[in-house]
Amino acid sequence: MNLATDYLGLRLRNPLVVGASPFCDDTYVARRLEDSGAAALVMRSLFEEQLDPPPVLRRLPGQSATEAMESFPDTADYQLSPERYLRQVEHLKSQLSIPVIASLNGHRPGSWIGFAERLEQAGADAIELNFYQVVTAPAIAADQVETEMLETVGLITGAVKIPVAVKLSPFHASVAQLSVALELAGAAGIVVFNRFYQPDINLEDVEVQSTLRLSEPSELLLRLRWLAILSPQLRASLAATGGVHAWGDVAKSILAGANAVHVVSVVLKHGPPVISTLLHGLQSWMRCHGYEDVQQLCGLLNLKRCGDPAAFERANYIRTLQSWKV
Ligand SMILES: Cc1cc2nc3c(=O)[nH]c(=O)nc-3n(C[C@H](O)[C@H](O)[C@H](O)COP(=O)(O)O)c2cc1C
Repeated sequence: MNLATDYLGLRLRNPLVVGASPFCDDTYVARRLEDSGAAALVMRSLFEEQLDPPPVLRRLPGQSATEAMESFPDTADYQLSPERYLRQVEHLKSQLSIPVIASLNGHRPGSWIGFAERLEQAGADAIELNFYQVVTAPAIAADQVETEMLETVGLITGAVKIPVAVKLSPFHASVAQLSVALELAGAAGIVVFNRFYQPDINLEDVEVQSTLRLSEPSELLLRLRWLAILSPQLRASLAATGGVHAWGDVAKSILAGANAVHVVSVVLKHGPPVISTLLHGLQSWMRCHGYEDVQQLCGLLNLKRCGDPAAFERANYIRTLQSWKV
């Protein structure tokens, strides 16, 4: 059975990629992931704020936790400094045979972009660019945000030879138009979608509370929809990230159009051996259904044969609402 896939122009032995996370901080853990079957690893992000530091605001006496959250961490509070990040890329590359993807996290064109070249020189096989931002100013229009993103992608892809993937937010008015524009700007792949960490409110302390929650399987549905919409429209690779917890989720992501499937939460919960469990499940299912090659599945259930995907989505929506009877 052939599970090999092309992702960002890289030949992967199978579609399972360990998504951006702290796993690669420890080379021993990274090797366990490779031994368990992971086809590539994405390192945690290096942030624009680490490379172009904003003014450091410290929590002042009497300042509430909410007010203190307005300040960025001090440079020493980041897990990997830029120099250590580069050394870790080199170290991972010397210890692993699978591709290592570095991650840059920022959105404003600026001098931080120059770091992409150093990541390439350190041996990174690709760069994943995470555009995490929450636009809160009413004066900032959607096209301004997207123009900056396109400019950033153009600057990075113009500076390096390795492929650059963009980890996109689902909160754009036209995800399809933006994805095509990102591809034209040089992106070799689109990763759908960034998860937004949403603070809760602690009623006991009457404070805003930031917690990192692992994903839920239900989060995959949004990704499946957009993989199915985007896959006939792009030549760039597609990856799913968010809500992949079982082998069936891997199969569904590929059927919808993913060339690679990122996993993080499920590995944090169950450890590296879960990678081989997911791969075995995928292979058994393929065998049962007479599939020999993962390429036979890729995009099989995308919206290629759908004349008008927007009408299809709306018709499905209306039919679903109408099917509920009291
Ligand atoms: C502990 C943790 C750290 C993460 N760090 C990063 C990061 O540095 N950069 C990034 O782009 N995504 C980061 N992510 C997001 C993951 O790469 C992934 O997109 C998200 O968790 C959804 O995938 P999942 O459902 O498999 O967890 C992190 C997620 C977790 C849980």
